[in-house]
Amino acid sequence: MPAHVVVGMQWGDEGKGRVADLLAQDADIVARFAGGDNAGHTVQVGDESFKLHLIPSGVLHQDVVCVLGNGMVINPLKLVEELRVLESRGVDISPDRIRIAENAHIITPIHTALDSAKENQRGAGAIGTTRRGIGPAYMDKVGRMGLRAGLMRDIDRFAEAVKERIVIGNRILTTLYGSIAVDGEAMADELANAAQFLSAYIADTPLLLHRALEDGKRVLCEGAQGTLLDIDHGHYPYVTSSSPTVGGAITGLGIAPKYIDRVTGVAKAYSTRVGSGPFPTELEGDLGNKLRGTGENPWDEYGTTTGRPRRCGWLDTVVLRYAARINGLTDIVLTKLDILSGFEEVSVADSYMCQGELMHEVPGDHLMMARCEPVYETLRGWDDAISDIQQLDDLPGAARDYIDHVQGLVNRPICMVTVGPSRHQFIRVF
Ligand code: GDP
Ligand code: IMO
Ligand code: MG
Repeated sequence: MPAHVVVGMQWGDEGKGRVADLLAQDADIVARFAGGDNAGHTVQVGDESFKLHLIPSGVLHQDVVCVLGNGMVINPLKLVEELRVLESRGVDISPDRIRIAENAHIITPIHTALDSAKENQRGAGAIGTTRRGIGPAYMDKVGRMGLRAGLMRDIDRFAEAVKERIVIGNRILTTLYGSIAVDGEAMADELANAAQFLSAYIADTPLLLHRALEDGKRVLCEGAQGTLLDIDHGHYPYVTSSSPTVGGAITGLGIAPKYIDRVTGVAKAYSTRVGSGPFPTELEGDLGNKLRGTGENPWDEYGTTTGRPRRCGWLDTVVLRYAARINGLTDIVLTKLDILSGFEEVSVADSYMCQGELMHEVPGDHLMMARCEPVYETLRGWDDAISDIQQLDDLPGAARDYIDHVQGLVNRPICMVTVGPSRHQFIRVF
């Protein structure tokens, strides 16, 4: 099984990081292909919780090589910080096991400043971005004015390029948005220090991956964000600026499609979304609050990256079928089933009612999606805690019915169900 792609099926935060960590046991390389430090992937190993933003979850497996692919946008300051934290916690961060694509793009403080300024200007129409500079960095990339990671090999040229970029960005920042200018000199120095450290990590990763795949090595492609946040396939403009779907794995790593023989979708047993945009099954009031949790538990629904409360609602299988189609999923991991324990009834949306019309597909237009009312099927809930269960047959009957029902509606096999954040808290179905 050479390349195995893992993607989020909803709006991000489905538990991709913990799933990638589990699957990394069978991988030689784990490669991130999209996004930047807008992602927050939580992996719990024993009592320790790791929050990864840029580095693939495979880093917690000593024998795995990690790749930050060319489809990513990388903030060098954040990457150095993340590497240092991992190092302080005993993780091997040597450059022979972490490789950064020379053709990945760089996020600088001007990108983060522009992201925030644009969001402030949008006011009530804000996208609710993570303000990590993601959109502006991808704008520079497609505008053919971006800075690429390979430039960090030549510190002087890199520092010059950063200064130039900040000068141009400051004009927009001050005149268009009325914001305070970024200090180009200071930032170029700081980034040059980071580049000095990171230069040893830069590599021709498409070549590295190609050679590994040809040698029969197993590559796990770790998705970030989710299908409904895809720049093309999500509800534009309430999306991120990259391609978190399967096509993004091919361009974002520079590997040929012929190597991909498995595409696993990760779906939370209910739905969440951070930021603005349509969300038909969103629940306000007691049910939504119960799904979100109070914030006492690390897995409660508050953003890993920004700490924002996540919007919560019932599972939407119209969305899951869409993700299955767009990504050509071979199988699904259903996460956080334990969170549904204690609900008298659980609901699943299987279609929408939109302006008097019954719809079984996700509409492409965000205004149309915002008008969709979910049509629910209601199933009986279960009371028992399930976090220690390791066999499907030991689950309460109602929980098994829920899994079967979702599998039937999405028409893709569920290969694994997770029942807690720790490495051992999962049920393998096949
Ligand atoms: P990602 O961005 O898709 O990797 O997901 P996040 O890490 O942002 O959010 C998932 C959260 O749920 C994290 O806090 C995980 O530790 C936690 N989590 C993952 N799987 C489970 C599970 O099966 N049960 C519970 N209770 N928490 C889980
Ligand atoms: P992981 O990998 C959840 C959302 C933001 C916002 C929109 C655009 O942890 O699942 P951006 O900063 O990318 O321009 O914001 O996308 N978003 C995420 N939501 N999980 C993520 O990553 C996300 N990455 C971006 O909240 O709505
Ligand atoms: Mg996350």
